[in-house]
Amino acid sequence: MAASPLPRFPRGFLWGVSTSAHQIEGAADERGPSVWDAFTALPGNVKDGTTAAVACDHVRRYREDVALVRDLGAGAYRFSVSWPRVLPTGSGAVSERGLDFYDRLVDELCAAGVRPVPTLFHWDTPLAVEEAGGWLARATAERFAEYAAVVAARLGDRVTTWLTLNEPAEHTLLGHAIGRHAPGRQLLFDALPAAHHQLLGHGLAVAALRAAGAPEVGIANSHGPTWPASDAPEDREAAGFYDTLLNWLFADPLLLGRYPDAVAELLSAHVPDLAADLKVIAAPLDRYGVNYYQPTKVGAPVAHPTPVSGLALPPRLPFSLREITGYPVTDFGWPVVPEGLTELLLTLRERYGDRLPPVVVTENGCSCEELDDQDRIAFLDGHLRALHRAMARGVDVRGYFVWSLLDNFEWAEGYGQRFGLVHVDYATQHRTPRSSYHWLRSALANQRG
Ligand code: NOJ
Repeated sequence: MAASPLPRFPRGFLWGVSTSAHQIEGAADERGPSVWDAFTALPGNVKDGTTAAVACDHVRRYREDVALVRDLGAGAYRFSVSWPRVLPTGSGAVSERGLDFYDRLVDELCAAGVRPVPTLFHWDTPLAVEEAGGWLARATAERFAEYAAVVAARLGDRVTTWLTLNEPAEHTLLGHAIGRHAPGRQLLFDALPAAHHQLLGHGLAVAALRAAGAPEVGIANSHGPTWPASDAPEDREAAGFYDTLLNWLFADPLLLGRYPDAVAELLSAHVPDLAADLKVIAAPLDRYGVNYYQPTKVGAPVAHPTPVSGLALPPRLPFSLREITGYPVTDFGWPVVPEGLTELLLTLRERYGDRLPPVVVTENGCSCEELDDQDRIAFLDGHLRALHRAMARGVDVRGYFVWSLLDNFEWAEGYGQRFGLVHVDYATQHRTPRSSYHWLRSALANQRG
């Protein structure tokens, strides 16, 4: 339990909580199908065999959920817009019913004095778009920008802060390279075009948002320090390559306008005019969203990789994951390493200098089942102090969002991992704020006081 009060964050610092559409909304029959509906329908893809057809029933209970955000004292709420709820087949006919939902949600947030921060894509590609090639097809980037324009036209009078994509790195690795997530493709390095087309979709969506008058645009990228398993050259090399793929492949094009060399080489075979695309991708951003959970320890490939933090990588990759020991672990088995956040932010600043836009931590949190979740309190307390240390050392950070407001559908884990400040009883949909919710509420009140 946190003993002393948190250090003071600057006035105007944005405190928020995050969710995503597929993980909480439910009301699946009121929208078009997405890749996640198709993926979860297949036995074996989700650990507990569940789907997100109902999830937290948020579409019906959003008023109660917004009240929870307001009562927490959060200034912002990050949610995602479901592309297939707005455009059931991904393009063409707009669902007024779908758009109306986000209209009401945004109104409710504004009335509660909470800034809405929508993310346009959090992994739920419309199934029709997937069937036309999904993110492996260049046309998907264009469809995505058209969808961004539709949403901006409807919500742009009240939304000031927009995020385009959530964690394209995870969506590429888990969804397209190793098939652990939807759409379940196992393409290994042939998944790279999916990364490029997401980034291109981001760039085109930035242009669409700007054209609609959006004042603040960003992206939410997942980042974490990569630690070599040892000083041996083969471990350092493997870790460097992993770092390039998971961190710099998604940040360099956005912030430097180029891909790391190793990636540019692999990609040029698939992309007709990389230089022209990079100009679109590198459109200036107002915010750089960082999702941080844990560092990764990486070594040279091994013949029989074992799962680390619940993730098993295939043996054919030129690196292998290693267990990080000596730290507490979350219910998910992920190591709790607050100083990894300081390290990461300092690395970002060092790598990008003034090209790094003001950072917002768009996700940080942990899986912890108990109602009296002292472990989550310790996690948040530790990470907020680590964040403050990075700020004291010169990193410009403007906000921090906890993942997540509610327990929700944790992708391939189903409902087994609980990340909520608020517990959800899925049988009754009853919400119970955990101890961490009360702790954060008083921490935020202290920050205001
Ligand atoms: C990041 C993802 O954006 C989110 O959807 C997921 O639930 C959390 N990580 C926890 O795994």
